[in-house]
Amino acid sequence: MNPASESKRCLTRILHAIDLSSLSKTDHKLLLSRLDQHFPALFDLLLQVYDKHYDLHYHLQQLVQTLASQFAQRNARLKKKDKQRLADPLWHKSEQMLGMACYVDLIAGDLNGVREKIPYFTELGLTYLHLMPLYKSPEGDSDGGYAVSDYRCVNPALGTTKDLQVLAQALNEAGISLVLDFVFNHTADDHAWAKAARAGDEEYQDYYLMFDDRQLPDQYDATLREIFPSVRRGSFSYLPDIQKWVWTTFNNFQWDLNYGNPAVFRAIVDEMLFLANLGCDSLRLDALAFIWKDLGTVCENRPKAHALIKAFNCCLQIVAPAVVFKSEAIVHPDEVVKYIAPNECQLSYNPLLMALLWNSLATQKTRLITQSLSHRFAINPQCTWVNYVRCHDDIGWTFDDGDAAHLGINGYNHRLFLNQFYTGRFENSFAVGLGFQENPENGDCRVCGSLASLAGLQQALERNSPPLIELAIKRMLLLNSVILSIGGIPLLYAGDELAMLNDYSFQTDPHKLHDARWVNRPRIDAQAIALAHQPGSPQYKANVGLRKMIATRKKYPVFGAASTQVLRTGSDHCFAYLRQTDNGERLLVLCNFSDSERELSADILHHLLPAREVTDLIEHQSVVLDFSNPLRLTAYQVLWLYLPIAVN
Ligand code: GLC
Ligand code: GLC
Repeated sequence: MNPASESKRCLTRILHAIDLSSLSKTDHKLLLSRLDQHFPALFDLLLQVYDKHYDLHYHLQQLVQTLASQFAQRNARLKKKDKQRLADPLWHKSEQMLGMACYVDLIAGDLNGVREKIPYFTELGLTYLHLMPLYKSPEGDSDGGYAVSDYRCVNPALGTTKDLQVLAQALNEAGISLVLDFVFNHTADDHAWAKAARAGDEEYQDYYLMFDDRQLPDQYDATLREIFPSVRRGSFSYLPDIQKWVWTTFNNFQWDLNYGNPAVFRAIVDEMLFLANLGCDSLRLDALAFIWKDLGTVCENRPKAHALIKAFNCCLQIVAPAVVFKSEAIVHPDEVVKYIAPNECQLSYNPLLMALLWNSLATQKTRLITQSLSHRFAINPQCTWVNYVRCHDDIGWTFDDGDAAHLGINGYNHRLFLNQFYTGRFENSFAVGLGFQENPENGDCRVCGSLASLAGLQQALERNSPPLIELAIKRMLLLNSVILSIGGIPLLYAGDELAMLNDYSFQTDPHKLHDARWVNRPRIDAQAIALAHQPGSPQYKANVGLRKMIATRKKYPVFGAASTQVLRTGSDHCFAYLRQTDNGERLLVLCNFSDSERELSADILHHLLPAREVTDLIEHQSVVLDFSNPLRLTAYQVLWLYLPIAVN
């Protein structure tokens, strides 16, 4: 078989069979040209996944029909944006980019409230806003909205679909890209498909992974990782009313979809394009590592998961090419990077950097971050990291055991230490955090807490100690300085910019009590904002320091599309990297991760030669380079040594 001519023949047949009469002449032409361009890849990918399905042609036809109707629904404003973004595909690499993630209710009550906050967002410099899942979801526990009951319906407590569209447009007019969640590994157990499955409809039972007895579940469980072991052992939940077991990677009420069924792929494409047509700029691919299951494996990061994500991306290129995918793969670093490609996910969370930043704070050592990032930071130049210090989830210690072993560190023991350090079980720790999903069987555990509390501000305030407060502020600024300068979109979690402490109120809410992640999802109230605006307060200092660095980032292209080279500093406590643009603009970043003054060899300054004098963009002062004496960095100090253009 010749795949190219097969795909052409297949598309021709489909186009004869489907109804495109609702499209205008221009749209018709544009759709055909996009299909010409992307259908061959789509055909090839779906053939890889569904080659055993005798009725694949039927499903392909349904799929193209879906693409055509969603294309017809896409409004003129968004089609114009498609054009602009196709002409500027690397918009996400700009030094202007700055992101924030937040829950609508916790930051502003509802969607209209978020719209009223736009002046605050623009004043902070945001160009990217990720609103945590805002779809209709079960009453009570909905895993923070990650159990979706209806993708097409906004949670009524937050507003309406119309409100969301109006907000998307208002954000865009303010230069802020909207990021929405695409929760496609599972639906809530009260989604219409799940309800039909439960009522006995076999067509919909085939939308999920259901089993009559424990035979297969036991076989699968033998090799699966438990994601929420304190919710339930194993990855399956029993449904007594229909006497079946259903696959539930996360909570019992989150049923995994069956992507072995091509009807599910088509149905989810339809939902995905509905979201794209609301006017978002990026879709966050939630829990994407889990979508394909192969018996006898861990059922994460499977080759067919990649084929499916690329197939979703083709559909996006055909209907809504302004939208980019963001990968949420919180897995081993070797696997994280496999999702990052222009034809898969153009953006990706950087969980390794996040974990290693916290590791460096705890150990005051930078060997592991230097070793790991020196060979793991580079990605496809058309793609962009999303660098974060905290998000709405827990911190998992996703570094590679091989990188650790290389330095004589035992990964298992080191993770135990980190968990103890950040959950108050290690003497002399500055951090106040909570453990999450401790697995009694293998000792696995993750950590929750806000930036400020994990960085020591909570303890320092409790002890009423000005020197400890100063150190905590420095730690917060240090971590933020890295995500702002290392290359990628810096993503703040709402509340962290205000240095908000842990919020323990979830412990009195029966729906949240069991999920410690709520400790780092505070409600942004007037008091927190006032505190961060009160000159002299620690929150004010952390906030002002962050704002200064943001303003600086936006002034220099070297913070945007530039290369990153992680450097060996010769000091166990200092971390360094060099950023360089194509036209030779350079930034040498030096950070001290320890709480005392450290020396590092002046050799590192050779990266700035032949310059004799540069500017430190942190203090905005000129620095005369001294090549004959060691450099000194005070506790947690950061230097952003900047050289405008190569001096020859
Ligand atoms: C993602 C979300 C997390 C959620 C899980 C299941 O990892 O970030 O909050 O619990 O997916 O949807
Ligand atoms: C696991 C998953 C990740 C999810 C998290 C939620 O780490 O790999 O996708 O966000 O659990 O706690």
